[in-house]
Amino acid sequence: MDRIKNVRKAVIPVAGNGTRFLPATKAMPKEMLTIVDRPVVQYAVDEALQAGIEHIVFVTSRNKSAIEDHFDDTPELISSLHRAGKTVQVSELERILPKAGSMSFTRQQAPLGLGHAVWCARDVVGDEPFALLLPDMVCHGARGCMAGLVDLYNDVGGNVVGVEECDPEETSKYGIVGQGATVARGFAVTKMVEKPRPSEAPSNFYLNGRYILQPEIFDILARQERGAGNEIQLTDGMLRLSETQSFHAQPYEGRTFDCGSKQGFIEANVAFALARADIGNLVYDSLRNLVLSHEATVKAA
Ligand code: UTP
Repeated sequence: MDRIKNVRKAVIPVAGNGTRFLPATKAMPKEMLTIVDRPVVQYAVDEALQAGIEHIVFVTSRNKSAIEDHFDDTPELISSLHRAGKTVQVSELERILPKAGSMSFTRQQAPLGLGHAVWCARDVVGDEPFALLLPDMVCHGARGCMAGLVDLYNDVGGNVVGVEECDPEETSKYGIVGQGATVARGFAVTKMVEKPRPSEAPSNFYLNGRYILQPEIFDILARQERGAGNEIQLTDGMLRLSETQSFHAQPYEGRTFDCGSKQGFIEANVAFALARADIGNLVYDSLRNLVLSHEATVKAA
């Protein structure tokens, strides 16, 4: 077997319109919406760095400059925080500042679909495997999903995807994979089906927005074939790639929230807040009171 090349780069697409969050996303990228006190995109970057990624490629678009600014230095702010003795805030700002030159920003001029956004990163990624993290899928667990995928990839090579189990009745909301032979940290993927009806789904393992892909995906995406919604779909490209290369999946031990939907975004805020040492108990009490008073109102109605 050829030597398995290290995964050094991660692609984070942030060029979508975020229409489900209008009007919040009229002037602000949806990836800058906050979960507790950090923008959604920060969670994806932290997860990539935890997995050993050295360089992050953002695929951006118009009105997304706040993302670039978020990862830049803020010397005036840091000086004023220092003067005010706010050392905790200074440490956090220093922690999230990326190493100089370790991020690239490339543009997708029109939101033609996730497959097209990934293709826009081809020159920056070059001829090597890369991680792909969809930022609105936010992982919550002891360890980020991507670190586990890198472990699996280092065992089996090829292409690797993160999966989670959904309610078998809800397969039509997701990309679903078929479960083949078991390997040490996951299983071989036999099929990938976009949004199958429960009766046609090969399993209830859905793609959770974390991938390690080989660069041959770019040649496939370059054909710009349109799929569902007249968009260039990543899943279609992966299906084509699976005809010549292996795909393995790893079930994520934590939980991924779909922060592209309002319900998932609110759930993520609650889950992350409850897990925080500084505010968890306070939030728990507030939520409990809110739920109790809501139930009383519903009963009285
Ligand atoms: P989504 O389909 O969830 O994002 O894509 P969206 O299109 O912004 O959402 P809605 O439906 O309008 O509310 C998942 C990820 O892929 C990126 C998005 O920015 C998001 O991070 N994406 C999607 C692109 O970068 N380009 C695209 O053409 C489509």
